[in-house]
Amino acid sequence: MPLDTTSYALPVARTIQDLRATVQKWRDAGETVALVPTMGALHSGHISLVDLGRTHADHVVVSIFVNPTQFGPGEDFDAYPRTEAEDAKQLVGKADLIFAPNAREMYPEGFSTTINLSGVTAHLEGLSRPTHFAGVATVVAKLLLTCLPDVALFGQKDYQQLLVIQTMVRDLNLPVKIIGAPIARDPDGLALSSRNIYLTETERATAPHIHRILQEAAQKAAQGADIKALCAHGMAELKELGFIPDYLEIRNATTLAPFDSNSVEGPARALIAAKLGQPRLIDNIDVPSA
Ligand code: PAF
Repeated sequence: MPLDTTSYALPVARTIQDLRATVQKWRDAGETVALVPTMGALHSGHISLVDLGRTHADHVVVSIFVNPTQFGPGEDFDAYPRTEAEDAKQLVGKADLIFAPNAREMYPEGFSTTINLSGVTAHLEGLSRPTHFAGVATVVAKLLLTCLPDVALFGQKDYQQLLVIQTMVRDLNLPVKIIGAPIARDPDGLALSSRNIYLTETERATAPHIHRILQEAAQKAAQGADIKALCAHGMAELKELGFIPDYLEIRNATTLAPFDSNSVEGPARALIAAKLGQPRLIDNIDVPSA
């Protein structure tokens, strides 16, 4: 299938072969490539990754693929917003190519390989969503090996995902530099997410508390407060506000393992996950060093 150049104002590769051929032409001309993997439903957080990619490479490819294997049973795979035409509009003048394969292209009949990581996946999201990171690692490895970019960019909002990808790239010697970009937030602090569109007006007004609670926990932890008590207090506050909290934790920033004592030792990250109405929101921030 040739590149789709008629649907939108920028070309779309629908097959692995077309993506490879386009990237190869750039490579033959001595030009560099950045990849921004997404599941579409683009918001300004994604666009900031594309803009950052542009500062690192001559060409930016944005992949749009709602990856079925990273959704667990009962999660929102079917309902996940699919907005390819609007996504393409936002990328005009920013990206050079969209890679938008279908599921059969990524997972042909007989597909049998899964990448499983131990260590960092043993915590937090890995416990709540046991099959999630295998799906993410497998699809990201395929995207990286298909596009072979010089750099690939991921948002720090999915902090554990970023650690998983960095670990996989290191362990498998994948020849790509992974860049973790700062979390894009609305002015009231809510981290941008494609799932925020599920929030009702009232829930949207409540949602920024998730960031405030994180900030308070991180600041107090940095001042030496008991992290177990801090997290328990934050969880209770989330419940009072109408969230169904999954976790609020202050963890080792590299391994996500809990600290042995009740106070922060070395680089730490505060991480939170809570349902508010339909969507499950996640966020995280750095715990400043004391
Ligand atoms: O963060 C996402 O949108 C997805 O997990 C990713 C990295 C595109 C893999 O499907």
